[in-house]
Amino acid sequence: MFWIKLIVLTGLLHVSFAVDSFSLKFDDALLAQRGLGWPHNLQVTKGHEALMKLSKTLDNEQSCHVTTPTGEHFDISSPKNSRFERWGDECSVRVKNVVPSDEGRWRLIASGGNDSLVGWIELLVTEETSSYSAPPIELYDGASDVKVDLSSLDNSYCLVAKPFSESSLVPGHCSVTLDRTTRAVQGNWEVLLGIPGMVSELSMKRHVIVEAEHLDVGYVHDSSTNKLHLYCNILHTMKNITFCRFQRTSQSYGYNVIDGLSDGSHSYYGKGFAWKECGITVEKPTQSDYGTWRCTLGVQMWVGNRIEPQPPMQALISVAPKAASRRKRDTEQGESKAVFVQEDGSLKIICHADVSLVYCWFQHPNGSQFTPLPLTSENQTFWYTGEGMSAGQCGITFNHVRKEDSGTWRCHMGPRGHLGVEMTDEVEVRVTGPLAANRKEIKVSNGETATLYCHTSNGNRPLAYCRFLSPTFMGINIDSSVTEQNAILGRYYFTPGRNLDIGDCSLTISSIEEQDIGEWTCAAVVDDEIVESRDEIRLFVAETFIPRRRAGVIGFSVGLGVLAVIFIGYVVYKRGPSLPLFRRQTNPPASDGFSLRDAFANDASLTGSRSSQSSTESVSVAQSAHSPRT
Ligand SMILES: *[C@@H]1O[C@H](CO)[C@@H](O)[C@H](O)[C@H]1NC(C)=O
Ligand SMILES: *[C@@H]1O[C@H](CO)[C@@H](O)[C@H](O)[C@H]1NC(C)=O
Ligand SMILES: *[C@@H]1O[C@H](CO)[C@@H](O)[C@H](O)[C@H]1NC(C)=O
Repeated sequence: MFWIKLIVLTGLLHVSFAVDSFSLKFDDALLAQRGLGWPHNLQVTKGHEALMKLSKTLDNEQSCHVTTPTGEHFDISSPKNSRFERWGDECSVRVKNVVPSDEGRWRLIASGGNDSLVGWIELLVTEETSSYSAPPIELYDGASDVKVDLSSLDNSYCLVAKPFSESSLVPGHCSVTLDRTTRAVQGNWEVLLGIPGMVSELSMKRHVIVEAEHLDVGYVHDSSTNKLHLYCNILHTMKNITFCRFQRTSQSYGYNVIDGLSDGSHSYYGKGFAWKECGITVEKPTQSDYGTWRCTLGVQMWVGNRIEPQPPMQALISVAPKAASRRKRDTEQGESKAVFVQEDGSLKIICHADVSLVYCWFQHPNGSQFTPLPLTSENQTFWYTGEGMSAGQCGITFNHVRKEDSGTWRCHMGPRGHLGVEMTDEVEVRVTGPLAANRKEIKVSNGETATLYCHTSNGNRPLAYCRFLSPTFMGINIDSSVTEQNAILGRYYFTPGRNLDIGDCSLTISSIEEQDIGEWTCAAVVDDEIVESRDEIRLFVAETFIPRRRAGVIGFSVGLGVLAVIFIGYVVYKRGPSLPLFRRQTNPPASDGFSLRDAFANDASLTGSRSSQSSTESVSVAQSAHSPRT
């Protein structure tokens, strides 16, 4: 045992001695292992040249011998192959047109007199990378701190030039971090790569596409099975769908569409929620299914390490053929909705479009333009209101309204996917006191019926009482219990269908007499006000009668029958809002377009009643009848 140990020990001593003796001569251990070969490792691309040498010069060098990886041995002063030659003062070899079989360990030995220097070089021959192609890089618009990997090659540096910007040098792996992704970085990125083994830089283009998250909406009508498929898919998103809802804009209810569920006539359409697809199949669609639909998608996404719900995404889908004709009718109607708002209160105006919008703006009656943007700061004087541009809603809220803001406002809407002239709509704004007359001037004729209608501004607010003062200073205290049957003085009664509780103070005069002509006052105490509010209404007698809108109204009346034609004649003749009978049949009470909510109610009732031809027409007539046209 002892003997064996001794031998091992002697061996160790030997080794350490040998290393020590090298260390005396060379600076470090690596050099000792490699000898004097330089560079130690050399990577050369096929076809390039390899330059190898000893890192020291032997003073009295007499020969320089090269041994190739394949074992060939020659003196560099008389190479066997013209690919080899000497290229410096030191013992060296230049290998032209490197081929794969050149890979391996090359040895160089310089000798002269009693001295010699030895070294070797590991040569690695790589395939030529003359081009690098990779698929386009897709980025999400608006994402922050995005790392873009431009190359998977083992490069030592790269030079990156984004479109329209200076190039920047990136050491090491070729990647760029974008603080915020915008469409400005979209296009071809010029990249120059420094690749080991190649002198010339590798030039390449990387195509970068910036995709904005959006809804892809549309419909498919399968006439062979008589099915209507509507879809609303999210493209380029990191969000997941939590629910999916479809609603015809003309109806107040919708459909909760669930992956894999059907009620026999309405079912899910699409590849699945997991594919961010949301759609509805309507079997045996009815007339009313051809129209405008709204889809609403509930979404959630990862925020940090938590899943958080995000604002729902919405869009409108116009299903032909009904959509086009409906739009036409809307504009033909061209009715301005009136918004009654109390001075100093906040003004809210909303316009509705049948299609998704990209932008919208408002024109003040004095011509100034206002483009609503989301509410972000407390000092903002106006901001966007509504369910979103994609839901076709263009709305604005001003926090303080002044008398000068009265007049006709116009909203301009830019529909998605349609360039050209903007869609417009008009909204009549009246800045009033807490109680305001719907129409300040009413043209009447002796013996006819007239209605004096006052209503609260800022929506429906209850009234404590309702009174009128006639031009002859006769005061009338009235509420809905006074009907045509028990009319005051046989002629004055509360307008049927109206209600003090929702802010109506409305007087109907069944047969106008001489003493009714002149200035009337309506007055009431509005719910949360401390003083009585009033407004004036002037009744005047028509001198000459010119039916300005006759052509249009007659156009509408086609198909309504004799009764309706007589009715329209009556309406035109009267030119007043006082259509108690008519209103009761078609419109909900108090929907003269007071306040914003009423404007909406009107809108909804209009859309809702379009399902049958005749009701649409009658609503149209009613609208033109009580719109203030002067
Ligand atoms: C080589 O070594 C021998 C003996 O060690 C010596 O005589 C001779 O001078 C040396 N030659 C050179 C060139 O140094
Ligand atoms: C979305 O769904 C996928 C697959 O079910 C899941 O891996 C991912 O975490 C979900 N993300 C969110 C935000 O819910
Ligand atoms: C129009 O009205 C707005 C809002 O009251 C006001 O800011 C603007 O200065 C007015 N413009 C003109 C030209 O009077």
